[in-house]
Amino acid sequence: MPARLFLSSGDLVADRRFDFARDLQLRGDLAAAADLFLQAAELAPGFVSAWFTLGEVREQLGERDAAIEAFRKAQAADPEDRHGASLRLMLLGAAQLSAMPQAYVRALFDQYAPKFEAALINDLGYRGPALLFKAVLAARHAARKPAFFKRAIDLGCGTGLAASAFASEVDHFIGIDLSPGMIEKARATGLYARLEVAEMVEALRGKPDAGADLVLAADAMVYLSDLAPLLCEATRVLAAGGLLAFTVETHGGDGVILGEGLRYAHGADYVRASIADAGLTLSRLKELSTRTENNEPVPGLVVVAEKS
Ligand SMILES: C[S@@+](CC[C@H](N)C(=O)[O-])C[C@H]1O[C@@H](n2cnc3c(N)ncnc32)[C@H](O)[C@@H]1O
Repeated sequence: MPARLFLSSGDLVADRRFDFARDLQLRGDLAAAADLFLQAAELAPGFVSAWFTLGEVREQLGERDAAIEAFRKAQAADPEDRHGASLRLMLLGAAQLSAMPQAYVRALFDQYAPKFEAALINDLGYRGPALLFKAVLAARHAARKPAFFKRAIDLGCGTGLAASAFASEVDHFIGIDLSPGMIEKARATGLYARLEVAEMVEALRGKPDAGADLVLAADAMVYLSDLAPLLCEATRVLAAGGLLAFTVETHGGDGVILGEGLRYAHGADYVRASIADAGLTLSRLKELSTRTENNEPVPGLVVVAEKS
């Protein structure tokens, strides 16, 4: 996992108290840590990292209501919500399922970028791009069409692993990602004709009709709760016969949930219905896991849809 985000309060004494509290937390003295985090937050009421970590510690102590109160203070102290307090409130059942804060995703992946590939491939056995490539080849083979794409867009491109898997079959790749740190890594691959630091749905809105033959999203839609806006824009941007290929995490129930790992999981029926609503034709939907966590394959879907 990336290093923890720390946002200084700007007050040396409060920051130092936070450090002491963190030591206590790491040593397992949670009650004393909670006390010190609260002191730090009261010294500097806008100290978002103290409120957020206090929320986490109170959760570890089983103090749900007090944790909710601390996460709400963290949210109020940082309306951009770089720590993702709103996600913790969703998990605690204290807020409705809603979109992930962009500032949280950007901060997370900017911190993650330097060790992203090693962590994902070595620690989590990540195989999303390879599974997606296989699925696209199979869909093209079944449709008796060549698996070559002149213009492709890689949504949530990260460091460029999906472009690398598809490099031999794509002429011109555009990569889009919220995180400048990930985009810098992608730039270093030399695989992209163009890279954009942008939110994926907003970036697609700026693209012309029928300007792409392939739209990819490898392990990126797990950061979107509602898939409809993205699928609608992808459909508009695809040329007739073009493909949208993506992976998601999934769950046995209906609709969309936020998992413990702070990634959304989309039910298979929800994905099928969203694709149909967007006017795409489903080519393939396979239950396949793209990563392993705690020695367990995380349930996932690999999906290919075509614009007719
Ligand atoms: C788990 S990484 C996957 C990266 C790459 N596609 C791969 O397969 O290795 C998810 C990426 O999606 C990006 N991301 C998440 N939500 C996004 C959004 N709404 N718009 C653009 N990028 C987003 C993150 O910044 C991150 O780089």
